[in-house]
Amino acid sequence: MRAGRARNCGSPGRAVAALAAELEGCIGMGVGQKISAENAGWSFGGKVPETFVDHIRLSVPLYDMGHDLTCQVSDFFVHHDSVVYEIGTSTGELLKKLALHHKARPGVRWIGFDVEPAMVEAARKHCADVPNITILHEDARLAEMEKADLIVSYYTMQFVPPRHRQELFDRIYETLNWGGAFVMFEKVRGPDARFQDIFTQLYNDFKLRNGFNGEEIVEKARSLKGVLEPFSTRGNLDLLARAGFEDVTTIQKYLCFEGFLAIK
Ligand SMILES: C[S@@+](CC[C@H](N)C(=O)[O-])C[C@H]1O[C@@H](n2cnc3c(N)ncnc32)[C@H](O)[C@@H]1O
Repeated sequence: MRAGRARNCGSPGRAVAALAAELEGCIGMGVGQKISAENAGWSFGGKVPETFVDHIRLSVPLYDMGHDLTCQVSDFFVHHDSVVYEIGTSTGELLKKLALHHKARPGVRWIGFDVEPAMVEAARKHCADVPNITILHEDARLAEMEKADLIVSYYTMQFVPPRHRQELFDRIYETLNWGGAFVMFEKVRGPDARFQDIFTQLYNDFKLRNGFNGEEIVEKARSLKGVLEPFSTRGNLDLLARAGFEDVTTIQKYLCFEGFLAIK
């Protein structure tokens, strides 16, 4: 434990108590953009929505480009009366971009799910001026869904516990109309240990270039233990195939960040 951590405290006695509590994982550490998180305790709640988009833009390579690509791909699947779901909409950033991209089709129903109440509130605020967007406080695993032409998951499936993940892929496949599409972006593991090592190091360099310091990078990784569980490209393709998808391709890839298009 470094002495620098004592900055959390006002006196030597409190410093010792704070360090002891920290050892038990009781104090959140800074991970950038004024967000703090505990070991194995990352959450999308609390004040996270306030700075979330700034944080994810700096943390996920090609974040905006992936949104733009999703909008372009959606042109092939969204019709004037379509239902479209975004699973894990967070602040509604992507859902609103999609709805505005299709503003000539006011009959489309854009529905965003999120399990985190603070995100739902933020998304409702962000999307309030677009009448055909609905944001629901729902776990996508359990939510009722009607037939849809497009389902989007932008860095969300990786947060669904592995023991439930296949179930959700199966539901997505069942929910889509024939010819409908699932656009999924995920952090992915490398195909073997050497590639994973290269990915991790280059991703750390990316975060350093974006202004995170070493401590923030380490604390973010610690906070995501057991919360963010990426599968490899192969693992994701297997999940999709078991759900029933036969037509799948990669639409974007940067190191360990990959976008897939799966058509039913
Ligand atoms: C990385 S964020 C998504 C970012 C967002 N799609 C964007 O483009 O900015 C993941 C989100 O998924 C939500 N989430 C995780 N599991 C979920 C589930 N089972 N159902 C619905 N939302 C979920 C989290 O609360 C979080 O807001």
